[in-house]
Amino acid sequence: MFSEISLSPNEIKRVQREVEFAERKIRKGYSREKILKGIRKTVFTQEEIFSIAKNRIKAREKFGELSKSLIFDDSGLRYSTPPTVAEYRAERLKTDKIADISCGVGSQLIFFARKSREAIGIEISRKRALMAYINLNSLGIENTSIIAGDALSDEVLNKIDADTVFSDPARPPEVEVRTMDGLEPHPEKVYEKYKKVTERIAFELPPQMPPERITISGEKEYTSLNFRLNRLALYCGELAEYDVSAVSLPSREKITSEDDEVIPERTDNVEDLLHEVDYTVMKANLLPNLLGKLGIEARIFLDDGKRTVLTSSTTTDSEFLRDYAVELVCPFSVSRINQELKRLDGGKITLRFSVSPDEYWNLRKKIEDGLKGEKWFYLFRKGDYAIISSPGHSV
Ligand SMILES: C[S@@+](CC[C@H](N)C(=O)[O-])C[C@H]1O[C@@H](n2cnc3c(N)ncnc32)[C@H](O)[C@@H]1O
Repeated sequence: MFSEISLSPNEIKRVQREVEFAERKIRKGYSREKILKGIRKTVFTQEEIFSIAKNRIKAREKFGELSKSLIFDDSGLRYSTPPTVAEYRAERLKTDKIADISCGVGSQLIFFARKSREAIGIEISRKRALMAYINLNSLGIENTSIIAGDALSDEVLNKIDADTVFSDPARPPEVEVRTMDGLEPHPEKVYEKYKKVTERIAFELPPQMPPERITISGEKEYTSLNFRLNRLALYCGELAEYDVSAVSLPSREKITSEDDEVIPERTDNVEDLLHEVDYTVMKANLLPNLLGKLGIEARIFLDDGKRTVLTSSTTTDSEFLRDYAVELVCPFSVSRINQELKRLDGGKITLRFSVSPDEYWNLRKKIEDGLKGEKWFYLFRKGDYAIISSPGHSV
């Protein structure tokens, strides 16, 4: 069973009006019961409108101004693609006709529709398919149709005449997905079925999944958003340009497995600068390619599996690295660090080494005790030594 979603402009307006009403009341602090009573029924129940309004308030951080037009259920918001990533992905997959076969509430689909000539969204949850329809229509997008149905069913498959297929599958909440088996729709099944339609297939996979568990061949592109690993895309068929790549957003700086490699040595001696490496690069296993591309001579100074820090005497100009100027190295004792920070006119310090979240503020408070200075420092730790440093660029 599947159906193409269609709502009249008036029905869409009614939904938006009720969401705006609920949002205003929530912001004014009215009780849930009172708000529910004032919501009129639309294609969504009163409870659903209330929860959409709450999610719209939450979505502001992720979607900025765009959130004013969008509607989400809880899971739709949680798994929605951030606009910066969605726009990049849509540009890379720009084509004639693209099908997003697990489109959720349509955050990625909006950008496919804007970049490609035509788009189609499939979503198994009818509620979410309705939300995707309303989201695209509220933004004035007219080149997209939405189908509520199972992307793995033959009847839906037979409807798809796209030249490019994309799937960002659902993952079970809370568990860290480490195999393809937890994903819905299962990427292997999608690949088997949709390769009859096109070889141009791309997936969004959980970024923590070990590469050997990825059973479909293609380019693995690790995506960083604001210096944090955010996504792992898999591009199959002619969409694959490299074996492995990493892209840093919003700058779109890219490194690939084809960039020349420089294997870094390890050192215990700190030089003038530290360079913290975006974890995305380590996950993609592309540190030698990054160093080769930048042409800098840097050595690995710290590497605890969670954070890798290089040292060198040259500043870098890469969004994959955060530079810090080393101010001084001293024994790691709270009182000694505190004394040195006072001497350096320090006011605040960020800890850049593994410390449990419970301990973090306690330790930071002790180190910052009595500091009255203006400057903000960053503290690294190597064994019994503390490295006090200040930001070199873009931290
Ligand atoms: C991670 S979400 C997609 C998020 C979307 N890319 C976005 O940016 O908003 C995955 C969606 O796949 C849907 N889904 C799961 N199995 C499906 C299937 N067999 N056919 C179609 N959709 C499916 C889920 O209901 C869920 O909404």
